[in-house]
Amino acid sequence: MADDIDKLVESLQKAILAGYSQKFKDELFNPMNFGKIENPDSYVRIKGVCGDTIEMSLIVRDEKIHDIKFVTDGCGATVACASYVTRTAQGKPIEEALKVKPEDVDRYFEGLPKEHKHCAKLAVMALRALLEEYCNKTNQESTGGVDIAE
Ligand code: FES
Repeated sequence: MADDIDKLVESLQKAILAGYSQKFKDELFNPMNFGKIENPDSYVRIKGVCGDTIEMSLIVRDEKIHDIKFVTDGCGATVACASYVTRTAQGKPIEEALKVKPEDVDRYFEGLPKEHKHCAKLAVMALRALLEEYCNKTNQESTGGVDIAE
């Protein structure tokens, strides 16, 4: 019985994840930076076009991203995209991290399905809002502000 259930789960996963790259599956099943930072230097909660949200929090040290975490009530694609976006931002100066675009996320995952392209936008929007919030709080000028909303 347990074997049957395992096989059923496996075949459902295969069907659901058909069309996603191995890189995407690796990120989805081993997401980095999931969670919340207590007493962060910056925090945002951003809602996407689908109504799902991402919360991101940040600690900056020596003008670099020292720690960054996210939580989401969104889909698996959002978990994978936010994991990728936060782990690539980690350790970077703010200005450098602001350069990430939704297309970069889509390219890294070798093309997200059309119905989940907005999940990459949501993850990038959250990161940019988080960094801009930090810049506003610390009176630094950000070089972001590119409008990527649908
Ligand atoms: Fe809503 Fe992915 S974030 S479907």
